[in-house]
Amino acid sequence: MRILVTGGAGFIGSQFVRATLHGDLPSGPGTRVTVLDNLTYSGNEANLADVAGHPDLVFVHGDIRDRSVVDEVMAGQDAVVHFAAESHVDRSILDATPFVTTNVLGTQVLLDAALRHRVGRFAHVSTDEVYGSVDEGSWTESSPPAPNSPYAASKASSDLMVLACHRTHGMDVTVTRCSNNYGPYHFPEKMIPLFVTNLLDGRKVPLYGDGRNVRDWLHVADHCRGIDLVLHRGRAGEVYHIGGGTELSNRELTGRLLAACGADWDRVEHVEDRKGHDLRYSLGIDKIREELGYQPLVGFDEGLAATVAWYRDNRGWWEPLKAKAELPR
Ligand SMILES: NC(=O)c1ccc[n+]([C@@H]2O[C@H](COP(=O)([O-])OP(=O)(O)OC[C@H]3O[C@@H](n4cnc5c(N)ncnc54)[C@H](O)[C@@H]3O)[C@@H](O)[C@H]2O)c1
Repeated sequence: MRILVTGGAGFIGSQFVRATLHGDLPSGPGTRVTVLDNLTYSGNEANLADVAGHPDLVFVHGDIRDRSVVDEVMAGQDAVVHFAAESHVDRSILDATPFVTTNVLGTQVLLDAALRHRVGRFAHVSTDEVYGSVDEGSWTESSPPAPNSPYAASKASSDLMVLACHRTHGMDVTVTRCSNNYGPYHFPEKMIPLFVTNLLDGRKVPLYGDGRNVRDWLHVADHCRGIDLVLHRGRAGEVYHIGGGTELSNRELTGRLLAACGADWDRVEHVEDRKGHDLRYSLGIDKIREELGYQPLVGFDEGLAATVAWYRDNRGWWEPLKAKAELPR
């Protein structure tokens, strides 16, 4: 099988590529992977160092918005796994335009090429943030999108374009919506790697508002297993949730990160809340569990301890990224 992985040099995409080429996923051995990534501030070829030179890996430095590059790399692919996106909510609040051009327009460029080349399956990777915020209960796959941030709105728009391609052209697409991921190679602008690297450096960590916002946390390896299941066995035109079942407020998570790094609450700096900060995300995962037998395998305590240990052991990976992780002013 030949797959095109967009955004394969990012946090989750690189996990998917490493796991595929290491044979950790069912699609494993024999899968030929082409990565298309334009290496934005969060893309990093070092994320693929473990598999550099692998005979089944081709890396193409290119932009999903570039029709000619996309057309070239799409030829001969059996499937697309589409991770490439602008992914940080705070950056979308500062400047939404790249979110629209990459997440919406870039997705459409890929869909057009996939249609032209009659690619067998288009697996679009999306987020629980498209639903907005839920005070109680959990979303199902038929809950209506009601995104609040420009990031979430751009992802919801791309989801709708992908699903429209199925309904209009009969293209074989799937959409997965996942909760918050954590794990190794996570760019140190997002909460867990930002807090861990700050704490390891003896610095303070910025906690938004009163810290009562709740997120559902999933190890990146579990996310990629879920994507792989949907890629191979998901039904065309369907949305599948991939969740972790570990809901924590940001305050609770901060407590766990402080403990894991041997630091106290005096290292926490309360900062002005994010604009339009969604209070709670919660995904129901009955559909993927019942149809595809999915369940998360990495327990949160074990996964978080391993993640903190990875950051402790891999300063050489994250130290050069700290300056790039600062938000533009
Ligand atoms: N991180 C999470 O918790 C989470 C949760 C659910 C869904 N997602 C989704 O998973 C996907 C991957 O997220 P991530 O956390 O790995 O993000 P990331 O920012 O770490 O990686 C994004 C990758 O896409 C590449 N990219 C960006 N714009 C591009 C363009 N125009 N052309 C080619 N490549 C481009 C970047 O260089 C980078 O390698 C995104 O679609 C995101 O919406 C993320």
